[in-house]
Amino acid sequence: MFGKKKVKPQIDQEQLELIKNAQRRVKQKKRLYSHFVIFLIGALFLVLANTVLGIGDTVKFFDIDWFVFAIFIWLFFLLYHIFNVFVTHKFMGKEWEKIQLDKLVAKQKIRINKLKTQLEKEDIHIAKTEVYNDEISKMQQNITIIVAAAKNDAIGKDNQLIWHLKDDLKRFKALTSGHHIIMGRKTFESFPKPLPNRTHVVITRQSDYKAPDGVIIVNSLKEAIEVSKNDDRPFIIGGGEIYKQAMSVADSIELTRVHDDFEADTFFPEIDETIWEETANIYHGMDDNHKHAFTFLTYKRK
Ligand SMILES: NC(=O)c1ccc[n+]([C@@H]2O[C@H](COP(=O)([O-])OP(=O)(O)OC[C@H]3O[C@@H](n4cnc5c(N)ncnc54)[C@H](OP(=O)(O)O)[C@@H]3O)[C@@H](O)[C@H]2O)c1
Repeated sequence: MFGKKKVKPQIDQEQLELIKNAQRRVKQKKRLYSHFVIFLIGALFLVLANTVLGIGDTVKFFDIDWFVFAIFIWLFFLLYHIFNVFVTHKFMGKEWEKIQLDKLVAKQKIRINKLKTQLEKEDIHIAKTEVYNDEISKMQQNITIIVAAAKNDAIGKDNQLIWHLKDDLKRFKALTSGHHIIMGRKTFESFPKPLPNRTHVVITRQSDYKAPDGVIIVNSLKEAIEVSKNDDRPFIIGGGEIYKQAMSVADSIELTRVHDDFEADTFFPEIDETIWEETANIYHGMDDNHKHAFTFLTYKRK
């Protein structure tokens, strides 16, 4: 019962791999040695077959006996075999493959983890945006984006409009007069002075932004819509940053599509026709007051 326990020799996985690898190498070298010996005997046989037994002694290529070519071709295979044993298998054997595979798996794991964190962040962001948009749409039902955009969606450059279209400005005035006009701070600063007969709501992240009396300053689009809640049709009048945020909360779009491409630094977002339905379309050609043709388009959320 208290006798000495027999100690069994233990071989770990790494040692086992080394032994297996050594056995594999011995086998490979043995096979190469046999190939070499067979090559020597075979080459001698080919020489004798031709010169002593006279086999194919009339067959020559470029005036050289056929067996010389046969020996060279075989020699090529022998060299290829030597290269495989001493270079390919030595450096790119099973162990090498395993290391490469482990490295790849490790890299993929890092990438998967990164993607997971990114997805989690995006999920949170989408959830927050949905809640935010829900809150806005509960507040207001008739938010209208009004914009003039070129064929290439250009809307402005150097904080200015790119064109002067008299009838478009007239229509803008007719539609927005008497209503709240919601805009980004940059668009507000592009006006020489506030527009008459409209309530200006300016969005800025600045806490101490100063504006003339009567202009309402807010710190988010949600707040801008909140302060316009008694208006039956508040207008989002730009610019690029505010349009982008307002696309998901607006109920309609009054778009003046100018039929030319323009160089610009500010653009209107793409109108997704699976979400928006065109309900009106009025073409206006070029004339003395209008250097570009354009179309008044109305879109309603489907
Ligand atoms: N073709 C058209 O119909 C049309 C209409 C309007 C404007 N435009 C053009 O559009 C250009 C201006 O557009 P823009 O994109 O550069 O500027 P923008 O949208 O007019 O104003 C951007 C500013 O709004 C504020 N802002 C944006 N998102 C906010 C948020 N979530 N919370 C709080 N504040 C926020 C920030 O102000 P702070 O930096 O102060 O924080 C930001 O710098 C001009 O070229 C203008 O002429 C064209």
